[in-house]
Amino acid sequence: MNRSVLYMALVGGMALPLLSAAEANTDMVEITAQPKAKDLHYFVPRDLMQIPPGAFGDKIRRGHQLFVNTQQLKGRYVGNQLNCTNCHLDAGTKAYAAPMWAAYLAYPAFRKKDNRVNNFAERIQGCFNYSMNGKAPELGSPELVAMSAYSYWLLMGGLLDMFGMKDKPVPELSDEQLQLGGREETFVLPGPLADKVKMEGRERMPGRAFAALPEPPLPYSPQRGDAVYAQHCAVCHGKQGEGRKMADVPVIPALWGSDSYNWGAGMHRVNTAATFIFENMPLGKGVQLDVQQAWDVAAYMNSRERPQDPRFDGGIASTAKHFHASDQGYYGKTLEGVVIGSHAYPSGVKP
Ligand code: HEC
Ligand code: HEC
Repeated sequence: MNRSVLYMALVGGMALPLLSAAEANTDMVEITAQPKAKDLHYFVPRDLMQIPPGAFGDKIRRGHQLFVNTQQLKGRYVGNQLNCTNCHLDAGTKAYAAPMWAAYLAYPAFRKKDNRVNNFAERIQGCFNYSMNGKAPELGSPELVAMSAYSYWLLMGGLLDMFGMKDKPVPELSDEQLQLGGREETFVLPGPLADKVKMEGRERMPGRAFAALPEPPLPYSPQRGDAVYAQHCAVCHGKQGEGRKMADVPVIPALWGSDSYNWGAGMHRVNTAATFIFENMPLGKGVQLDVQQAWDVAAYMNSRERPQDPRFDGGIASTAKHFHASDQGYYGKTLEGVVIGSHAYPSGVKP
């Protein structure tokens, strides 16, 4: 087992492995990419077949369905052709593709983006407004409760299994409790789990968010990224980053243009996209690009136009100053004589 993994409590057997605070860097400006913990067996959620029958199980199943086919909310809450699972891969279970089990344990948490503590359901709302270019369902809505229930179940089932309680059912929680998240005093941990999963460090499960990627040897370049894109990505995502549909159902997600994530989404940052791409793309053959190529292609993809930042205040410069001053993105910058963001597509749900 790698030394970079810190054991919170070794008395009485295993405890939840966590990264040390320094390694995980919990600065909440954006979720900082994590160093990969080598030799570590990542957290394993229960198989979907084990979702229990009954009303509570139905909520979990509904959450899973919405997560993998978010397009059923198109026009109401979703304004592009994406599904949550397009970025949170394997239905939100893949380590280093921002898995829901690690996220669930990490909220409530302070978010710099809106300068306050967000609970889990509020964090999901963020992805609806930006990544899905939509309009988030209300707190307490069946959709947010269901997606919270699914995420909770992924976490709790895996924890019970990990600590030798394979036969124990995942405890049912109220709708209100489900939406809070696991980093909460009132979060119920059955029996011996209470000693294993300490409050301290719940935001640092190995595999959370994205794996850290070294800085590129040369400053990243959209021009070089164009060539990487043509060679490694266009075959699936299309020449114009438009993705692909079959019988009008999106099968490959759009990377830019009117049907993609908007200028406020976390994926618009070159660093976030580079870490995601390096680890996960081309799909099924991740970790094929070299570090430079991953940064360059992220720069290419994220310097194309996409839907406007929903926080747009009427001016690109002022919106960039208020919301993009410290991010590694192209919004408001000038490339080949054009101010990026000035030809943005409409943001939000199109009726
Ligand atoms: C375009 C890609 C994309 C899509 C689609 C997307 N997300 Fe995200 N999501 C991200 C990124 C990137 C982050 C990390 C953001 C950051 O670093 O600020 C994130 C973060 C999150 C987090 C917090 C993770 C953590 O560890 O703190 C949750 C919860 C979440 N998303 C839920 C959802 C749900 C639910 C949906 C569908 C309604 C969704 N996301 C759709 C890209 C996406
Ligand atoms: C074999 C086809 C294929 C190739 C090649 C491929 N992708 Fe993808 N990509 C996908 C699919 C499919 C998804 C959605 C994954 C899912 O839903 O499980 C995806 C998801 C994504 C996402 C997150 C969703 C979104 O729309 O923002 C990004 C970013 C991305 N790919 C970038 C790239 C880049 C950059 C390359 C080239 C280095 C690349 N992909 C190559 C098929 C591919």
